[in-house]
Amino acid sequence: MVIKNVCCIGAGYVGGPTCSVIAWKCPDLRVTVVDKSEMRINQWNSDKLPIYEPGLDEVVMECRGRNLFFSLDIDTAIRDADLIFISVNTPTKTYGVGKGRAADLKFVESCSRKIAQVATGPKIVVEKSTVPVRAAESIINILTANTRPGISFQVLSNPEFLSEGTAIEDLLNPDRVLIGGEESEGGAKAIEELSWIYQHWIPAKKILTTNTWSSELSKLASNAFLAQRVSSINAISAVCEATGADVSQVAEAVGHDSRVGPKFLQASVGFGGSCFQKDLLNLVYIAECLNLPEVANYWQQVINMNEYQRSRFAKRIVECLFNSVTDKPLAVFGFAFKKNTGDTRESPAMYVCSHLLEEGAHLNIYDPKVAPDQILQDLTSAAMTSEPERVKRLITICDDPYEAVKEAHAIVILTEWDEFKSYDYNKMLLQMKRPAFVFDGRRILNHSALIDLGYHVETIGKRFTRNALVRNAATRQHWHRLQRQKVARNNIHHIMH
Ligand code: UDX
Ligand code: ADP
Repeated sequence: MVIKNVCCIGAGYVGGPTCSVIAWKCPDLRVTVVDKSEMRINQWNSDKLPIYEPGLDEVVMECRGRNLFFSLDIDTAIRDADLIFISVNTPTKTYGVGKGRAADLKFVESCSRKIAQVATGPKIVVEKSTVPVRAAESIINILTANTRPGISFQVLSNPEFLSEGTAIEDLLNPDRVLIGGEESEGGAKAIEELSWIYQHWIPAKKILTTNTWSSELSKLASNAFLAQRVSSINAISAVCEATGADVSQVAEAVGHDSRVGPKFLQASVGFGGSCFQKDLLNLVYIAECLNLPEVANYWQQVINMNEYQRSRFAKRIVECLFNSVTDKPLAVFGFAFKKNTGDTRESPAMYVCSHLLEEGAHLNIYDPKVAPDQILQDLTSAAMTSEPERVKRLITICDDPYEAVKEAHAIVILTEWDEFKSYDYNKMLLQMKRPAFVFDGRRILNHSALIDLGYHVETIGKRFTRNALVRNAATRQHWHRLQRQKVARNNIHHIMH
């Protein structure tokens, strides 16, 4: 089979960017992305794409209408395709057996049934959505049990490793592409076909091939390992706050060990996103089902540490604000789960805000990319509160950070957006109540400069003791004095020569 037509079911954070890059890099392919949501497809066909991702607009604008199409006609796209990506959402189950832990595969199943129903020729079906180990087996069972005789399918696992905010960069220069398939002649051929698509821009040595189950498990394991690193450094951050150590210094020292490496050691208010928690829960559930309770407990602890980190930070805010935030306006900077995305799924900001709202705080929330409706929807959802009307009254969504700080007792940083670093915090201070606090949940601001301005600063993994503050300020004044003397000396030197 020579692949000419590719279809992707699911025009979300994974399907949209992945297929846009495939279309861009493979002009010889016709790529059609379909979705059951009319709104999503209309947005993909408009000037304002449904997701914010640096570099995505340019890629879509170049290919859309050429060899990249967004369509609601799922049946035709499936029928015409030689290869079909399943990129639908696989959220954590909210009902029945495995509730709150297992991945809900109802969308994957309905795609498989649809493919079986409309396919008139052989297809390679590729699971891109994160799924539990052996999900491919369910897909192949549904396909073969429901399809017309004589039509053959190959099911591959090709997990996506892109990170939101750097999706295009990750797709263009991935660390690896992983393709798992059946250990048979048919399986090997299908792997070769998919591999050929990626080889349009990715060196063959970066394309790893495995059996289907290894590929499925590798995706869960990769995310579990990454989440574990964040929980590990966050656990250390709590020790730092209690001892006077500085977590960034510890992270640097630890990360210099080439066996550990420097990445993913940024202590924070906790990890979020659609993948880490979901995949960890999934892994825990699988381990339980396989009667491996020690393994389940081990990975569960990574999630527990994340929850601890979020609630520890929220409690610290209340504690520092004299044990009460009731009726106090607080400015919240950032709501997305990380910078450069408008995605709020499992954002730690949601949990911290929810805690503060429970305590009666008024939150003035500013995020450069998250839509106001999304913030309201998240904080008033049944998972977050039983009193949505009360919560709504306590929230103001601001489109200007300088508005958000008016009369506020504190600035709470919950996402590491770059623009937060360049605000005029002196100007902000003048608008705020005293004492004015900054709670930096992402460790991105210049804390010494803020202390010099007169803020009380609290951050993750470092405690500024009173002595340290005074010492800090004194050292800085001394440094500024030296700098002034140096400039003066240089000026004199300049004048004399
Ligand atoms: C993750 C994986 O990185 C990606 O390979 C997979 O395909 C999907 O899941 P994503 O969730 O988009 O990607 O973002 P990622 O950059 O991994 O960050 C996840 C969370 O961890 C964010 O909330 C981020 O702020 C947090 N984080 C990350 C830290 O708190 N500290 C770090 O050092 C790194
Ligand atoms: P992800 O982050 O995994 O890409 P998203 O929620 O962003 O998840 O996107 C998944 C997309 O899949 C949604 O736009 C949803 O409408 C779509 N989808 C889910 N089930 C089906 C289905 N059976 N047919 C077509 N599209 C579907």
